[in-house]
Amino acid sequence: MTTAQPTDTAHQYWNAEWQQADAGSPWAKAEPWVTDHAGTLPPGSRILDLGAGIGRHALAFAAMGHQVTALDAAEASVAAVKASAVAQGAALDIRLAAMTDLPFDSASFDHVLAWNVIYHGDESVVRRTLAEVHRVLRPGGTFMATMLSNRRLAVERAKAPGHEISRHTWVFEGPGDKVHPHHFCNAADLVALLHGFEPFTLYDRPHDKPGSWHWHFLAERLA
Ligand SMILES: C[S@@+](CC[C@H](N)C(=O)[O-])C[C@H]1O[C@@H](n2cnc3c(N)ncnc32)[C@H](O)[C@@H]1O
Repeated sequence: MTTAQPTDTAHQYWNAEWQQADAGSPWAKAEPWVTDHAGTLPPGSRILDLGAGIGRHALAFAAMGHQVTALDAAEASVAAVKASAVAQGAALDIRLAAMTDLPFDSASFDHVLAWNVIYHGDESVVRRTLAEVHRVLRPGGTFMATMLSNRRLAVERAKAPGHEISRHTWVFEGPGDKVHPHHFCNAADLVALLHGFEPFTLYDRPHDKPGSWHWHFLAERLA
């Protein structure tokens, strides 16, 4: 009998990465679209930063006067966010947990952010995470996230040998976090995955590096 290997393992890579990150890291500077949207929410909104990294967005949300929870599966992330929160005198709820099993009651949040997080795993991981986001977000709450697009898959395949371990889920030879499974999608796949949400913004653009295509979306949780 063969036992399926877990595919939500990328936090192991990020745990090592976050042990070396400092204030000069590109991961320390908040994304304008993320903070612009948070600025439209009423002060005191309950926000979950899912897969918070070293806390660039969670800390910015707290500075805006929101009630913030930062969650990540990497211990070094939790340690870094705690240290920054203490240094900045920010009151954050900081949790070590997996995105597929969120330790919160239903409808606990007004907004969920998952920036470069949800695609770390196969389709079942992605679906389970989206179901958890749907559960913990109140009806009418907003959800902003990124996903990896098929344009990015073509770039990765040109860079390094890789193989599709299950539908739309790839691993690549290192270095980098793509030695861990990553899920890629086209627009139709993504809209189908967002069952229970109404996306009102959706676009594909590269991040800092050429070819680093990501879907960006902002959606509302349907009742
Ligand atoms: C690319 S980093 C992005 C960090 C942060 N969202 C940001 O934009 O600065 C991905 C983050 O997702 C976390 N992560 C990966 N898999 C996860 C999982 N299964 N559950 C929770 N967090 C996970 C990693 O530990 C890492 O901190």
